Amino acid sequence: MHGTQQLQQLRDAFGSKLLEQEPMQRHTNFRVGGPAACYMEARTAEDITRAVTIAREAGVPWFVLGGGSNTLVGDAGFDGLVIQIALRDIVVDGDRIRAGAGAITASVALEAGRAGLSGFEWAISLPGTIGGAARGNAGCFGSEMKDVIERVRVLDTGSSPPQTRDMEAAACDFHYRRSIFKEQPEWIILDVTLELHRADSVLCRVAMDQFLERRRRTQPHDKPSAGCLFKNVELYALSADAMDHLERFSAGTWRGVVHDGQLPVGWIIDQLGMKGHRVGNAQISEKHGNFTLNLGGATAADVLALGEQVRTSARNALGIDIEYEVQRLGC
Ligand code: EPU
Repeated sequence: MHGTQQLQQLRDAFGSKLLEQEPMQRHTNFRVGGPAACYMEARTAEDITRAVTIAREAGVPWFVLGGGSNTLVGDAGFDGLVIQIALRDIVVDGDRIRAGAGAITASVALEAGRAGLSGFEWAISLPGTIGGAARGNAGCFGSEMKDVIERVRVLDTGSSPPQTRDMEAAACDFHYRRSIFKEQPEWIILDVTLELHRADSVLCRVAMDQFLERRRRTQPHDKPSAGCLFKNVELYALSADAMDHLERFSAGTWRGVVHDGQLPVGWIIDQLGMKGHRVGNAQISEKHGNFTLNLGGATAADVLALGEQVRTSARNALGIDIEYEVQRLGC
């Protein structure tokens, strides 16, 4: 890292909790990524405050990691401090459930269902943590985090000293795969409160099983990936020219696949004939075009080379710019 002095400060503060030269492929679902100079699990808000304060004073870059389900780390790793959020408490209170940002989203869905709280069954099939899901307004099968979030508590590390702040959903500026937290990296999510409604817990379980089955049927699950590599294309953002292109390119069939106002990138990749396409050990899934798989030993360079081929093809064939959904660190 930058210097032994900075490193020593972090060692003094966190002792054996601080891992050095920690391979990030261990901490991402993609199983890709070189080492983080320093890595620690933050189990309390105080851990986060201390880590960020020391890193900031020492001029060390820091990165907040959730479940690593939507993150691609570069092959050279990250010359800074990775703070993995490990606040994992889940508390049911009436019709609400509050979960620490590091709670696994599927565990929150299970706990809610067990307590007879309905409205979050779809999230049983979401990978990653609830903090990451809130930050990215994750969603599937017609639901999104914004539909159930009542409030989010954050640590504002931009203020000195860092302060907690309670934010109602309306203040979080949720949109498709976006929130205010992506714009304000110094606001670190501590916990998320969902407002659900009472139901029979057996029916919740049945609904969860159906969502899991649907995901298994439509998406690959036997090889590491980061979920969908790209965001779907929001139709409202397409120019008249691009719409015209799309109409001709697909002979009008695009209308049959639009959902939630989006044109699925999986479908675009399918239409471009790129499923199964491979660079090194990264391959576009045969089952779902928006999933890039690590066949074993894929590098971030492989994934990005493949990603760029897809983006170039989409631009050339359709005049559409597609954007990465996956969060990138050091690449
Ligand atoms: N399609 C194809 N070929 C493909 C893939 C999809 O023709 O290879 C077609 C399907 O037949 C369907 C349409 O595209 O008509 C939509 O496909 P799907 O239902 O699989 O949904 P998606 O838009 O591709 C989105 C989310 C997923 C989420 C699913 C299920 C994004 C980028 N993806 O995928 O989220 O699980 O809906 O609701 O918004 C993720 O964000 O990482 C993710 C996996």
